[in-house]
Amino acid sequence: MTGAEAEALAVRPAELIERKRDGEELSRNEIREFVLAYVRDEIPDYQMAAFCMAVFFRGLSAAETHALTDAMVQSGETIDLSALGRRVVDKHSTGGVGDKASLVIGPVVAACGVPFAKMSGRGLGHTGGTLDKLESIPGMRIDLGQDEFIQQVRQTGMAIIGQTGDLVPADKRLYALRDVTATVDNVSLIASSIMSKKIAAGADAIVLDVKVGDGAFMKTLEAARELAQAMVDLGREAGREVVCELTDMDQPLGHAVGNALEIREAVETLHGEGPPDLRELVLSAAGHLLALSDLGVDAEEGRARAEAAIGDGAAHVAYERWIRAQGGDPDLEALPSAPVARDAPAPTDGYVQAIATTNVGRASLRLGAGRMTKDDPIDHAVGIVCCAKRGDRVEAGAPLASVYAADETAAARAVAELQACYQVGPEPPEPHPVILDIVR
Ligand code: URA
Repeated sequence: MTGAEAEALAVRPAELIERKRDGEELSRNEIREFVLAYVRDEIPDYQMAAFCMAVFFRGLSAAETHALTDAMVQSGETIDLSALGRRVVDKHSTGGVGDKASLVIGPVVAACGVPFAKMSGRGLGHTGGTLDKLESIPGMRIDLGQDEFIQQVRQTGMAIIGQTGDLVPADKRLYALRDVTATVDNVSLIASSIMSKKIAAGADAIVLDVKVGDGAFMKTLEAARELAQAMVDLGREAGREVVCELTDMDQPLGHAVGNALEIREAVETLHGEGPPDLRELVLSAAGHLLALSDLGVDAEEGRARAEAAIGDGAAHVAYERWIRAQGGDPDLEALPSAPVARDAPAPTDGYVQAIATTNVGRASLRLGAGRMTKDDPIDHAVGIVCCAKRGDRVEAGAPLASVYAADETAAARAVAELQACYQVGPEPPEPHPVILDIVR
């Protein structure tokens, strides 16, 4: 930064970092200037990294978190969905393993006559990303421009695309920086990152799925509740209605982990044949989305309509319409398949007591389903199917999981990794539901 640019800021960046380091509350304007100067390249990464670390240890007050979120929204373009003339809904998950829920929830909600407009992200760390899953569908376009996005929601009832170029550039840069400076898992930073994108993307009402457990960023219910409350408050301040579901991530959601495998499971669920935990999460989220829409129903009636849309095939019709609208081929036969399939057998008889979910995500990543570095290509065909879930009874030698790999070496490594992920013992574990709590 040149001396002249430094003078353009009302506060010296180092002074601001120092005050946050010492636990002071910064003003709205100070936070705004700091963030916008960073996006203009007037503050270098090392100072922003130091600021994030100070926030990591000292936290942000509710007013500071609000100011940060506002500044992030103002850093780029925002989308105005009012031309649709309807209350538009959106959904977001904080990130998990095997989380293909958006691929089912979007078509279910659209089939119930409510416009669903969502911008998604790519895989992050050991968690999968909706965009990567969608790109396993041949021809599928995720790079629609703003006008095309709005037009598709109008004509098709839904769209799920990548973030358009200039939406919340502050988050793009901050997130990449936090990823490599050990400053991701802070409630204020996560809440402002997620909510700035949701607010900028324009929906009136949002259901947030805050994952809790081994495979999630939030490891405890207490931390998840704090994050949920922060996001609900940020939404309210921006005039958006937000409901947060806290959901179990102590095991993968459903069975499939990996892009094309997850598309297949999402379609099974749209046909009413999906795994019970995924179906429950979908029905609950869709119920809340319909209750937040302009249909004038409560969450119970919303859930009943969602169930009916799956039962009578309307949700699957909405899925095919959506995929075709974005250039994709909805035929499951068109999805890529891995050349090698191997089972990871149970070492002994017993009950599945726990599944090391982050490690399942990492095993899938190493098979090629995600990126080890930011520019790695993805193999959409590979992944894992966790045949046994927590509480299931298994016989020695029966498959705990099936591995779908590009070659024998990768398959053998993943089989060993998965066996280490499963804890099998003589007693069944305490059951716990997929929906753990609701914050609104
Ligand atoms: N997802 C986001 O978009 N941002 C975070 O900070 C964490 C999860």
